[in-house]
Amino acid sequence: MNEKKEDASKGIGVTKDKIEVQEDLGKRIGTKVVHAGESINPFTRGITTNIDFSTTFAYDIADQWADVFYHGKPGFAYSRHANPTRSVFEKKIAILENGEAGIGFSSGMAAISTVFSTYLKPSDEIIVTDRCYPGTRHLLNQYFKEWGFIVHFVDATDIENIKAKITNNTKLIHMECPANPTLSLCDIAEIAKLAKEIQAKFVFDNTFATPINQNPIDLGVNIVVHSVTKYLSGHSDVLGGATVSSADERAEIMNTAVYFGGVMQPFDAWLTIRGIKTLELRVNRHTENSQAIAEFLEDHPKIREVYYPGLISHPQHQLAKKQMRGFGGMVSFCTGKSDKDGVDFINNLKIIKRATSLGSTSSLIQASGSMLYLEFTEEEKRSIGINPGFVRFSPGIEDKDDIIEDIDQALSKI
Ligand SMILES: Cc1ncc(COP(=O)(O)O)c(C=O)c1O
Repeated sequence: MNEKKEDASKGIGVTKDKIEVQEDLGKRIGTKVVHAGESINPFTRGITTNIDFSTTFAYDIADQWADVFYHGKPGFAYSRHANPTRSVFEKKIAILENGEAGIGFSSGMAAISTVFSTYLKPSDEIIVTDRCYPGTRHLLNQYFKEWGFIVHFVDATDIENIKAKITNNTKLIHMECPANPTLSLCDIAEIAKLAKEIQAKFVFDNTFATPINQNPIDLGVNIVVHSVTKYLSGHSDVLGGATVSSADERAEIMNTAVYFGGVMQPFDAWLTIRGIKTLELRVNRHTENSQAIAEFLEDHPKIREVYYPGLISHPQHQLAKKQMRGFGGMVSFCTGKSDKDGVDFINNLKIIKRATSLGSTSSLIQASGSMLYLEFTEEEKRSIGINPGFVRFSPGIEDKDDIIEDIDQALSKI
């Protein structure tokens, strides 16, 4: 894997272009989501981006093709390496995350596994928040550990727990926040300073907050990863992932991506470009709904605990105010006395859907008694804050009063 890193600047079909800063297309996020990365089609004058399904691209002269495929000249030769529609998405997400360059992947897990594979070799150590997405935890426990990587899961709400695991061999720190399941936070800027001191890559999963509410690169993170499946595409009809980083890091990660092969498909890129145009509107609505729902739950006699960074009662509310522009669209809570109460509650819901995932236009809910964390032992669940009757809720963009009424009628039945 070291060889791969040295080879990065010579990657086949991998260019090192930075995104162009499009000052003329607006500086504010609500304008950028609409226009960033896109331009008027010079042939048709169409204002929307076309879907280019071509897997291969032809040139008048053989050397022109070789310049693109072998010698890093901007352009398209084969779609696993670069595709015109994916490229537009990559520019858009890079601009929104204030990075130099992006990559579109076939899923969030493809993005995360490709980044880890790019920067780690067996016997390297990685420090990971113990509240990471369970799929990331599984990837590290089931595969990377078996291949000889040393993985430390820590409670990252306290930076001292991270410091305690640092060795000369620490090569990567992976964090996410607000994090599953209790929407806990880590201090991104402080961890970024630490990562810089020890020259480790700081990778951050910004899926929950989205670039509307938080820009980790501005706080010192090296590589942002996303599950595009969630808020970015936003309508539960795309499985996708993304990275945003410096142009050099993009070339390194792309070199791995080209051979692991999990890149984003053109139709998914197009749906995501379209979805992102309403990202600010949707995320603001998700955030507004979540705040109202969290406040309603906090006052409800059948609710024991509510976790939402926008509540003053959240233990890290001040940190949330420091590093987030809005408190996000996820609310967790515990109802009744047992896991059965949580399951009975969600079974009584009418509008809110019992389904996994998050960041959809539709409200989605899961209870730990039946649909969530079934692979964890009771001890593991308690260690990350999952208490009896735990429910994870991703409010959609429906009218908040309808969502609250649905919750209220379901709670009245338990
Ligand atoms: C925070 C977070 N990161 C990564 C992933 C993985 O994304 P995907 O399902 O697109 O592979 C998920 C999926 O739920 C997630 O919630």
